[in-house]
Amino acid sequence: MTPANPRILPYGEAALGEAAALIRARQCVAVPTETVYGLAADATDSDAVAGIYAAKGRPSFNPLIVHVADMAMAETIARFGDEARALAARFWPGPLTMVLPLAEGSPVASLVTAGLATVALRMPDHRAMQGLIRASGRPLAAPSANASGGISPTRAAHVAASLAGRIPLVIDDGATTDGIESTIVDPATRRILRPGPVTAEQLPGYSSGATPGAITAPGQLASHYAPSKPVRLGAVRAEAGEWLIGFGVIVGDDTLSATGDLREAAARLFDALHRADASNRPRIAIAAVPLHGLGLAIQDRLARAAHPRP
Ligand code: TXA
Ligand code: MG
Repeated sequence: MTPANPRILPYGEAALGEAAALIRARQCVAVPTETVYGLAADATDSDAVAGIYAAKGRPSFNPLIVHVADMAMAETIARFGDEARALAARFWPGPLTMVLPLAEGSPVASLVTAGLATVALRMPDHRAMQGLIRASGRPLAAPSANASGGISPTRAAHVAASLAGRIPLVIDDGATTDGIESTIVDPATRRILRPGPVTAEQLPGYSSGATPGAITAPGQLASHYAPSKPVRLGAVRAEAGEWLIGFGVIVGDDTLSATGDLREAAARLFDALHRADASNRPRIAIAAVPLHGLGLAIQDRLARAAHPRP
């Protein structure tokens, strides 16, 4: 009998060994980070990276984030100026991605960067992703481990449901702590390209928002992170047929954080959207979150979830 795909293995030496063997065999493996579960493949091998696009059904012009275990590996891939070095010292390992010029002789496959002269790089703060990079000896390209356009996965079960039959293995290390994708910055222009767990307040001198001419990638597509049901934002109570996701004093069928804590809300956000999508109500309503700190990243994901499908 063929085992059901994907297999879900608990984090440990055995799981890392199997996953590393799959990576070296140019396959992709789902692995948690502190932000969301990623679908990882050898960033230096274009066939392996093509497997990510195939499994996700992702349009191939979108560049991917490369994950490294240490600065030595990072510097073989990208060029670090003073500002990039300062950010790395302050925020790595952690949920910050930097867009940097490719290093001379960078081993990253051009499919990863979609042919750009820059690469998005991050050093994750998670034992499973760190362990897999070290065990495989490869930098790993990894977008979120969900079918393209779907809700980002914060648990192994989300990955298994979204990518059933399309990937061989998920390393299960429980729910992710941050719950939303990394903050992406361009140190050269001091712009925040995608809001995330590292907040604008922690990046003084950086301006927010996409710039004309910037690449459009899935995180920037208006209806990314979408549940399958219509979503209404800023709800104070549920209307007929709605599943209400509350926040603070707004009590719903579920809550992002009963105490109004934005860290907790970020960590629970995608999980709550998965539960709402799986509920027996045809529509989803979500309470407002305050628009500062992590609230900006949460609102960014919610606005995309609520945007009408193309
Ligand atoms: O938290 C995260 O960042 C997760 C986990 C798995 O690490 N990964 C993730 O990857 O969200 P992904 O592939 O969904 O995000 C890729 C984003 C694109 O939307 C694009 O905005 C940006 O990275 N990006 C990648 N390469 C870029 C480049 N050369 N220039 C500008 N933006 C780039
Ligand atoms: Mg994604």
